[in-house]
Amino acid sequence: MLRNLILLLAGIAFILAYKPELRVRLYARESWISSVFLSENSTRGLESIHLRLKNRHNVEYFGNISIGTPKQNFTVIFDTGSSNTWFPSSHCPKSNLACQMHRRYDSSRSSSYIPDGRNFTLWYGAGNVHGYLSQDTVHFAGAKLQGLIFGETLIQQNFEFHSVTFDGLVGLSLGVLAWKNSTPFLKLLCSQNLVEKCIFSVYLQQASANESKGGEIIFGGFDESRFKGNLHFVPITNSNYWKLKISEVFVNSKKISGETDALLDTGTTQILMPQKTYDNLLKLLPFEMEGGNYILSCQSKIMPEVKLVIGGKSFYLTPDDYLVEANYGKRNGCITNFAPIKQNFWVLGDIFLWRYYTVFDATAKRIGLAEAVIDTN
Ligand SMILES: *[C@@H]1O[C@H](CO)[C@@H](O)[C@H](O)[C@H]1NC(C)=O
Ligand SMILES: *[C@@H]1O[C@H](CO)[C@@H](O)[C@H](O)[C@H]1NC(C)=O
Ligand SMILES: *[C@@H]1O[C@H](CO)[C@@H](O)[C@H](O)[C@H]1NC(C)=O
Ligand SMILES: *[C@@H]1O[C@H](CO)[C@@H](O)[C@H](O)[C@H]1NC(C)=O
Ligand SMILES: *[C@@H]1O[C@H](CO)[C@@H](O)[C@H](O)[C@H]1NC(C)=O
Repeated sequence: MLRNLILLLAGIAFILAYKPELRVRLYARESWISSVFLSENSTRGLESIHLRLKNRHNVEYFGNISIGTPKQNFTVIFDTGSSNTWFPSSHCPKSNLACQMHRRYDSSRSSSYIPDGRNFTLWYGAGNVHGYLSQDTVHFAGAKLQGLIFGETLIQQNFEFHSVTFDGLVGLSLGVLAWKNSTPFLKLLCSQNLVEKCIFSVYLQQASANESKGGEIIFGGFDESRFKGNLHFVPITNSNYWKLKISEVFVNSKKISGETDALLDTGTTQILMPQKTYDNLLKLLPFEMEGGNYILSCQSKIMPEVKLVIGGKSFYLTPDDYLVEANYGKRNGCITNFAPIKQNFWVLGDIFLWRYYTVFDATAKRIGLAEAVIDTN
């Protein structure tokens, strides 16, 4: 009898302690902008890169989230490169078409709204986002996250916000330049014990020419069916960023970079690297000359693999990963989804995340990587 009771109590304790993983389905859509959110200068000090060519491999990945009571629905980008969260405000001026074209948060319709009112501006290389802070409950994947301080945006300047599908942005970084007296999304989620482990994992499917698939972000766990072999964990190099150390980079057998930091950034499509490294890389890619222009071949057979050595393990990017068809006026050719930045670190964007399933572990301050299973359905 006593034994049964103990078993029963243990069972109840288990049920109470058990927290499901929170799975958020991600949708993908082609985008004309390559890396809008790369470049919050106050946060990351980066410059924005705009590809002038039509680039079908620019993709935005977004998921559903709701705010307030009753719920107001939005689509958001989950950005591992920044810490702050924002949504368009119902108070944005009528003259702001970009804002009017998206869903807007209306605090007067939410019983769980708590005013804050501080102004904020977030600077991105391609423009800025300005508004004021508010606090409310966020619902996603069946979880209820209370008291998130987020930005209600009144103005989104210059970064082609009208052309993007998503309404807002959720910053999943570790607190890099988070607003004062506010707890960023991930930290808040973990502090309210809504997940068993303070981790999340990212799975992004590569967008094909005609179809953009999507992906999944799991808070509190990861999905072993999405990757091959074991996760390879490496420590993060800065407690505020999802940055790891690359020890060397090779193109064929030629070394183009020694030790460097790299930011894992879901909010960027491309792979960015310091100008000098980029110059080294370009020298090793075969070009064709046409009418005085250098044109990159789309024949992946003749293009090299790029090898990144991370924590003693090699991670490859193949021409199929980095080549993008482009129109050079009269003829077609390819460009790469590599680009230079005026920084001394790399940014590994979606191109890298297509190939490698990624686990972001906030407790152990480490990042786990494993080759993603390519879903051919
Ligand atoms: C960010 O850039 C804007 C203009 O591009 C500048 O006015 C602002 O001071 C910068 N912020 C920081 C923190 O560097
Ligand atoms: C996300 O929201 C859209 C409507 O905005 C809906 O059609 C879709 O089913 C939602 N997806 C999930 C996974 O809830
Ligand atoms: C918000 O999304 C939820 C879940 O996807 C859905 O059940 C609900 O009807 C949506 N509400 C509105 C106002 O669209
Ligand atoms: C906040 O921004 C608004 C414009 O959006 C401005 O009118 C107001 O003066 C600002 N308040 C403070 C305290 O800076
Ligand atoms: C993609 O579209 C092109 C034409 O736009 C077509 O030739 C090709 O078969 C399509 N591929 C797939 C996988 O649907």
